[in-house]
Amino acid sequence: MQPIATIDFLSRPDAARSAVGGRRLYIETYGCQMNVNDSEIVAALLMERGYGLVDRPEEADVVLINTCSIRERAEERVRHRLQYFRSLKRNGRPGMIIGILGCMAERLKRRLLEEEQLVDVVAGPDAYRDLPRLIEEASETGQAAVNVLLSREETYADIAPVRLGSNGVTAFVSIMRGCDNFCSFCVVPFTRGRERSRPVESILAEVEQLLQAGYREVTLLGQNVNSYRYGEVTFAELLYRVSLLDENLRVRFSTSHPKDMSNELIAVIAERPNVCKYIHLPVQSGSTRVLERMRRTYTREQYLELIERIRSRIPDVGLSTDVIAGFCGETEEDHQQTLSLLEHVRFDMAYMFMYSEREGTYAAKYLRDDVPPEVKRRRLEEIIALQNRISQENHRAKIGSVQTVLVEQTSKRSEQEWMGRADNGMVVVFPKGDYRPGQYVDVLIEEATSATLRGRPLGLRERLGAPPLRQVGEPALLT
Ligand code: SAH
Ligand code: SF4
Ligand code: F3S
Repeated sequence: MQPIATIDFLSRPDAARSAVGGRRLYIETYGCQMNVNDSEIVAALLMERGYGLVDRPEEADVVLINTCSIRERAEERVRHRLQYFRSLKRNGRPGMIIGILGCMAERLKRRLLEEEQLVDVVAGPDAYRDLPRLIEEASETGQAAVNVLLSREETYADIAPVRLGSNGVTAFVSIMRGCDNFCSFCVVPFTRGRERSRPVESILAEVEQLLQAGYREVTLLGQNVNSYRYGEVTFAELLYRVSLLDENLRVRFSTSHPKDMSNELIAVIAERPNVCKYIHLPVQSGSTRVLERMRRTYTREQYLELIERIRSRIPDVGLSTDVIAGFCGETEEDHQQTLSLLEHVRFDMAYMFMYSEREGTYAAKYLRDDVPPEVKRRRLEEIIALQNRISQENHRAKIGSVQTVLVEQTSKRSEQEWMGRADNGMVVVFPKGDYRPGQYVDVLIEEATSATLRGRPLGLRERLGAPPLRQVGEPALLT
């Protein structure tokens, strides 16, 4: 799962208007894409009850903060933010309800009430249907209301998420919840509970609705999407079925665990023109010894073989990964192995972290967090420096190629440029011309940094399956 920075949900003007007379709700989200989608589910559940969204906590009657526990730093940020919400409440807003949702709520449970006074509602990831009641209870009694029960069934399959802060082009669709892998460093199996897959029909129905609303790309989400299973339907089958709904709907997915990347799945990615040729495949470490202690269930060699298998079937595939520096017992030699794996695979992008011990995990109980912080930091810096160079080289190698870009929104850097993604996941910006969000545009790449491609639009692409446009009078490299 790709971790992302804070997302402040911008509510839509129509939602704000619907707040008139109803209670005003503000939601702030931290953590992964699954949390983003969960906040959309929470918004749907509460708007159904007459709540209206507002943009600023200062204007809200109910402030919800959807939290992440993956690393200590993630929790610190949330605590900091809570202090601010509490100051609002103390300074003239005594009736305001502050609720903590998500992974931190689940991890700390009632402890949160002692540690964070003035929190009124604590709701874990499987308790969101109970939120209207919890908020009522807290308002009426003045006492904190808590529900952190995890479920074996809840998938919120019947809830149509309210697409908060959406660009109207790309959307997240959760297909499963929880994780049963218990990697020794990871808190997710404890905060999200057991793995469960959402019914196929409800996923297809949600994607159909998105298509009707004009969306052009969906990202199927789960902590480990390739262990999706509903009856006889595997992830490969689900991906195939979603891709058949509309030939011009792009389909992405996140995250894949290397242990169950089947040949069938690789074949679907290779063969379906609208399934993006991009795989986020977290490796965590390049050392088999470390991988074993991480309980990742694959070796360095198996990971490298998998990469070969993917590349032989999908030559131009975009690849990204997650890496942890300084896990328990990691030696200098282990670290060198991680660097050499990065050199060897040459990912287009990576999310890189220092190991952060999480209470209750296997590593916290049975392994020693013995790599000194300054060594962790130095190793992380080496990993980042190497990966930045590789990302830059990979992006530069696309100069001269034509990439099919789905236009998402105005570029953050310039009002005159669109931003979108190439099929392989790379970010592309180009001059707006007469193009619009939701269109596929073939772009000739002319410049590159380690994170972005910049180019010149050649024209509209009517159909994803068709060959890309060429530049008139010039043979363009087709990739
Ligand atoms: N389910 C995904 C990962 C979700 S968490 C997968 O298995 O691929 C996202 C990333 O956070 C992980 O891939 C890992 O690199 C990082 N991470 C998880 N726990 C961590 C910890 N305790 N310290 C540092 N990084 C961690
Ligand atoms: Fe955490 Fe491992 Fe599950 Fe990913 S697969 S969420 S790293 S336990
Ligand atoms: Fe996601 Fe963070 Fe929870 S990464 S699953 S919000 S611990």
